Amino acid sequence: MEKHPQLAKFGAAAYANLKGKLPNIFPRIMGPNCAKYLQEVVASGLTSDMVARFETTFAQAHGVKHCMATPGCTPALAVLAAAFEFQPGDEVIVSSVTDYGTILGLLVENYIPVFADTAPGTVNISAETIERCITDRTRAILVVHKTGLICDMDPILALAKKHHLIVYEDACQAVLGKYKGRLAGTMGLAAGYSFDSEKTMGSDMGGCIITNDDVVAERCRFMGHSRGATMKPDFGRTHTARGYAYRMPLCTAAVTLAQFEISPDAVAKRDRMVRLLSALIGKIPGIISLPIPDYVTVYSAWMFGFSIDPKAFSCDARTFAAQLVEEGIPGAGLGQYYLMPESMVYLQEKAAKKIYPYSKPPASRDYHYGPETCPTAHAFMEHFIRWCTFCEKYEESHCAMAAEIIRRVAERNRK
Ligand SMILES: Cc1ncc(COP(=O)(O)O)c(C=O)c1O
Repeated sequence: MEKHPQLAKFGAAAYANLKGKLPNIFPRIMGPNCAKYLQEVVASGLTSDMVARFETTFAQAHGVKHCMATPGCTPALAVLAAAFEFQPGDEVIVSSVTDYGTILGLLVENYIPVFADTAPGTVNISAETIERCITDRTRAILVVHKTGLICDMDPILALAKKHHLIVYEDACQAVLGKYKGRLAGTMGLAAGYSFDSEKTMGSDMGGCIITNDDVVAERCRFMGHSRGATMKPDFGRTHTARGYAYRMPLCTAAVTLAQFEISPDAVAKRDRMVRLLSALIGKIPGIISLPIPDYVTVYSAWMFGFSIDPKAFSCDARTFAAQLVEEGIPGAGLGQYYLMPESMVYLQEKAAKKIYPYSKPPASRDYHYGPETCPTAHAFMEHFIRWCTFCEKYEESHCAMAAEIIRRVAERNRK
């Protein structure tokens, strides 16, 4: 074990040294009401209803009954996993290309993540790739709208209905994105969001759960906010379940509410810019822009990404990306750590050694995680270059500049 592991850098710190000719997402554009809402919290002596205000506003904007604010999406999805009450060893099918935060809650509950491969040519899973993973132990499908591209939800929902499975959404990267006019996060039973500082609705930290289901909402509040506790007269809290105290702080709610107010414009701008830049680079031979299907009616693009055709260039994607950085695209690089079957060494070991819940019982079969688990995702991510500095600060001129940089690097390395 490494003695002094390099400390992870978050938010602005991770982006601080990124230089280039194109915008950096930091410093973030802050909503005009941010200071006012923060001042309200301070002036109230911490009695403000800021969290409830954020929750009500977010729920109403999504046309759902319930929103529950959390300190992030990792907690939001952990609360949902706890709320669902599956059994240890039950399987949840989940996107293979995602963030650790998507799956932590599954591990805490001793559910078994089964990673669905991505559909060819994209970063998302599909009904077809999910169907191959369904077993008698499958209980739910957790979809991730990666980069902000919404998964093709109608076939996924139909498949889930056929097999009596819950669908829920990790909408972290797709806030206010739309699928056939329907908002991300409103298509499954529930959804989790992230308002981490680098996310589209960057608010320092924060997240939330939304759902239209009264039972799920009640259970989330019990497991997520109330520490799984019920009140016993003349005694106080008794803990009847292993619940969390994952509440959003008032000051975070103030920032989050202010950021939400500017998010529709920010998302509309990202949608326009991602489509423009995709179209521009699509004209460069050997450069394959990430397909934006017609069903993605609003592409709330958190990051920008494209693939290179390895047959067209004499260098690999890593070298290509490094040259993009040199030419002025801050943060361009590969995102192979998003490949969960490969990055989750912890799971690989547990599954190989059949450590609980991989022991039988509660598991019903053997599991294995590695590059061969999801070969399409593995192959795709080898040639996929992305940068998370893409944001609403982009103008048409920036798209032209980015496309020109990609064209120059492409010509330099063309076979
Ligand atoms: C798809 C996805 N899910 C979950 C998370 C975790 O969100 P948070 O940092 O708010 O816990 C992230 C964060 O990067 C993410 O991108």
